[in-house]
Amino acid sequence: ARLVKPGGLWTRIDVLAETESTNAVVTAAARSGTPEGLLVAAEYQSSGRGRLGRTWTTPPRSALLMSALLRPTAVPAGRWPWLGLLVPLAVASAVRRVAEIPAQVKWPNDVLVEDRKLAGILLERVDGPAAVVGIGLNVTLRADERPLPTATSLALENAATTDRATVMAAILRDLATRYQEWVDAEGNPSVILPDYEELSATLGRSVRVELPDGTFLEGVASALADDGRLVIDTADGPRPLAAGDVTHLRP
Ligand code: BTN
Repeated sequence: ARLVKPGGLWTRIDVLAETESTNAVVTAAARSGTPEGLLVAAEYQSSGRGRLGRTWTTPPRSALLMSALLRPTAVPAGRWPWLGLLVPLAVASAVRRVAEIPAQVKWPNDVLVEDRKLAGILLERVDGPAAVVGIGLNVTLRADERPLPTATSLALENAATTDRATVMAAILRDLATRYQEWVDAEGNPSVILPDYEELSATLGRSVRVELPDGTFLEGVASALADDGRLVIDTADGPRPLAAGDVTHLRP
């Protein structure tokens, strides 16, 4: 592919007909010392993984399923969490450009269209060190195939294209550009924040959050902390949040 070029981020792109999980394939490659820039895509995953231990299931060829191996070794470890915001930002901006739909980012790492979930991102750290970035984006998924009524796809949003190769190429381009900028800035979030804030569906919204321990928190998502955590203004004061399931409340 033309995306694999000397000096570029992508060193190798493999497209598999079927695999268990592209994140599992890339994690194994990371553990065996593969350099950054490997990208593995699949037409179908028999046991796709989602965030918070969930599964991610899509009918064959209905979604773009891919995982990238990144090694931002020039970036201090404390700034690696920003990758979790950089990736959805790259996906949302690429989709806006080629598919011409108003994609937004939901904290921490979903891509939405008017509050319907278009794409999910799963970031896994591997010793070595490496980050495995998994992207699942619904392309031709039909209404009757949705895992949840709040899911959507490029086709359901009447996107300008539903060609998986076109969308994949756009995402890989944007991801490489934003990643390179961020690495060159030694992980400084200032290269991400203005665009992230502009495309955020979460900042400024009233939210309800399920914490990892099963309790709930309500308030207004007011800002991002220096380390990428989401700050919720609650009745008891500001609470920075590292992980959790955010529900956007109306308005
Ligand atoms: C989420 O929303 O919970 C994240 C979903 C991430 C799914 C993608 S599909 C490609 C890659 N391989 C996996 O097993 N998961 C990610």
